[in-house]
Amino acid sequence: MCGIVGYCGPKRVVPVVLEGLRRLEYRGYDSAGIVYLEDGKLIKHRSEGKLARLEDIIDEAIIADSHIGLGHTRWATHGAPTTENAHPHSDCTGELVVIHNGIIENYHSLREELKAKGHVFTSETDTEVLAHLIEDNLTNDLVKAVKKAIKFLEGSFAIGVLWAGMPDTLVAVRNQSPLVLGVSEEDGTFLASDIPALLPYTKQVVFLDDMELAILTADSYQVFSLETDQPVVKEVKTIEWNAAMAEKAGYKHFMLKEIFEQPQAITNTISGRINLESGEVSLPEININGEDLKEIDRIFLVACGTSWHAALVAKYWIEKFANIPVEVDIASEFRYRHLLINERVLTVSISQSGETADTLAGIRIAKELGSKIITICNVVGSTMTREADGTIYTHAGPEIGVASTKAFISQLAALFLFTLYLGQQKKTIDLEVSRTLGKELIDIAGVVESELPRIKSEIEQLITTYYDSRDFLFVGRGLNFPIALEGALKLKEISYIHAEGYASGELKHGPIALIDKDMPILALVPQDEVYQKSISNVEEIKARQGRIILIGTEGDDHLKNITDDVIYLPKVAEAVNPILYTIPAQLLSYEIATKRGCDVDQPRNLAKSVTVE
Ligand code: G6P
Repeated sequence: MCGIVGYCGPKRVVPVVLEGLRRLEYRGYDSAGIVYLEDGKLIKHRSEGKLARLEDIIDEAIIADSHIGLGHTRWATHGAPTTENAHPHSDCTGELVVIHNGIIENYHSLREELKAKGHVFTSETDTEVLAHLIEDNLTNDLVKAVKKAIKFLEGSFAIGVLWAGMPDTLVAVRNQSPLVLGVSEEDGTFLASDIPALLPYTKQVVFLDDMELAILTADSYQVFSLETDQPVVKEVKTIEWNAAMAEKAGYKHFMLKEIFEQPQAITNTISGRINLESGEVSLPEININGEDLKEIDRIFLVACGTSWHAALVAKYWIEKFANIPVEVDIASEFRYRHLLINERVLTVSISQSGETADTLAGIRIAKELGSKIITICNVVGSTMTREADGTIYTHAGPEIGVASTKAFISQLAALFLFTLYLGQQKKTIDLEVSRTLGKELIDIAGVVESELPRIKSEIEQLITTYYDSRDFLFVGRGLNFPIALEGALKLKEISYIHAEGYASGELKHGPIALIDKDMPILALVPQDEVYQKSISNVEEIKARQGRIILIGTEGDDHLKNITDDVIYLPKVAEAVNPILYTIPAQLLSYEIATKRGCDVDQPRNLAKSVTVE
């Protein structure tokens, strides 16, 4: 979390850094700050609150004739989100500044040692330690001082450093927090936590790896390994995304735009990967040959948040169609439990960002235990994709809204394809079945596309009597149980309504005690193989006067006997139901949150990419 931006080049630095921060604000928005060098002096501006607050106080800085600087948008870990704790942080002289993403775990002891040496601290952050530590090691070479300081650090960090004594140079270091360089012959050299910050200027990027240090000037960059102290030749990658993809394009919120981009995200994710004539799925990018796959006797799916819900859906698919036992783990639990993993286990991480700290730690552990690793990921070149044996990219395009929508749908599409692929390798499904299922996956993109506007407008009407609820339950069975969890997560994330997702059959084991005439319950009741069971559960809710919203199959008139609040969806193949049933759950949350006046794209306390434990 936290967004880092740095720039040196021919452009005026402040607008470049601000534009970058705007595009990284999803990483944290508690406070923001910039620093630039003008006439040999570092000028620093910081503000608590969102970036807009900072922009309000820096009119003059915008036109500063400065061509080197740094910016930061913060998600607070150590120290409240105040102006004093906002980055950049300075050393005692004010001539050296640092921005940081991550956590310096041993900051407390370092701080005490530095204080004893006479350093004066002005914030409560772990980051400020870095500024003083570099100062403490600085004679006349910033790079040497940074290298020495890094040796004292424990924890995760991506940092940018600027010193008035080396006015043409930025120094950056990465260890367990993402950092990417942008390079452009015309526009200079850039530093950022994530690709969207670079898109207006360049598509040529260099991903730093752990314990690498980069030296940036307007027309060059050099990367060194901090372990060997040798230069490292880095690959320059070209990013396919463009700047417009990370803009709102006329939508009120990124989240809404991203919900409407879902049909395209599905199509992009499956395109070229399934042959509809033969039914064959090809995923050469997983880099595991068919023979090795046949040896796999268990799969672990590891993820956090919304990506974990995609994993839960995939468990149903893989076990049913590929006949392989699947365990689904929340990454923060996986990494600390006793894992029975060996080389016959396949571990699959699912992550939009490819940078989530717990998921990353999870696949590292699984790898050490001998498991092959596949990642299903949206961000090209992200850490997980570099560490996994193979990557199935979801092609959702940049997702900016903090609440994940199109990334989730594209994860489902990728996992469905992966299931078919496994089934083909394991010979548990024949090509004809695979062809039919593949066709259903492709068709669902069209169904979502044509239904989205209607669902949105029906939900807009429906929520007028629900938007001020204090609690909400979401229930579903089978493949739609994870969608109930996802619906509840979306609602809590963006509307701050307390919401829980349950397997419908589990209601009787506790949550039914909550039901009364004030409790809204959204039930997913497609006409699938557990339909009758789901309806019985809904009747139990009705008997206790719960306020029921049903999402069910077009033509199922019985639903109208249960409640007036029914959203009908077209009948699609049972296997792809979760993709379709996610849409009303997302829109319900979106409409309720906007009606309540919540900041949909930047909900309080959250960050899109959780790069600390
Ligand atoms: C954060 C985001 C969620 C996301 C989760 C996992 O909590 O707010 O939207 O689902 O991280 O992120 P990942 O990038 O690994 O999918």
